[in-house]
Amino acid sequence: MNRIRLGLNVDHVATVRNARGGHAPDPERAARLALQAGVDGITAHLREDRRHILDRDVTALKEVCDAFGKPLNFEMAVTDEMVAIALDLKPHAACLVPERRQERTTEGGLDVAGQIESVGAAVARFNEAGIRASLFIAADPEQVAAAAKIKAPVVEFHTGALCDAWRDQADFTFENEFNRLKAAVALADELGIEVHAGHGIDYDTVPFIAKLPQVRELNIGHFLIGEAIFVGLEAAIGRMRDLMDAART
Ligand code: PXP
Repeated sequence: MNRIRLGLNVDHVATVRNARGGHAPDPERAARLALQAGVDGITAHLREDRRHILDRDVTALKEVCDAFGKPLNFEMAVTDEMVAIALDLKPHAACLVPERRQERTTEGGLDVAGQIESVGAAVARFNEAGIRASLFIAADPEQVAAAAKIKAPVVEFHTGALCDAWRDQADFTFENEFNRLKAAVALADELGIEVHAGHGIDYDTVPFIAKLPQVRELNIGHFLIGEAIFVGLEAAIGRMRDLMDAART
């Protein structure tokens, strides 16, 4: 089986903690439990406004990932501050995302084509430092071509609109979005870029995304952390893992 990796985004454990301040629930503990439950890596987004993950969380998460021999995917905006933190932290991967203060979550893909110099400079620094740069982009051939041009080793396709279309049962939109994703995935793969996907994925949407054979990794956060409230993190991860494996067989 062409196994697909599952990365858990622990941002929203920190969201709940920060709603009260203090130390609980602890994203580091969530990462440890998730790694024991078999996830292949941990993602955390250090936002400019530190609304969920804090600087100390990133250090603690890196230590937990190192202890398990698993990758930390450090999600970040393309700013001097974040590039410096990433170069100092040396995570396995740095996922470059657009960031706007007003947004509730990362609402769109990074405009690599429109900011080719600044994104290219960050990717070049990460390539030199041995950190795998991953560009969080829309399923758009222009963005894939720009990612290839600046030698990004990985792209992560934003699946938010696709998952929303599935939930809205808007067949036409869903089919359009899914065709766009399939074409972009195929193009990235042809250009030698490793393909990941993430955003808005749940038990209903994972089967058709995980089925795309070129997709090597899914990064899932909000749904799994929410589901863990009801069934526990291990059970939520286990069910997602089973659905991902079933999609590949
Ligand atoms: N991948 C990236 C790059 C993201 O920005 C996010 C959201 O923070 C995710 C994956 C996970 O999305 P969700 O929380 O909707 O599962």
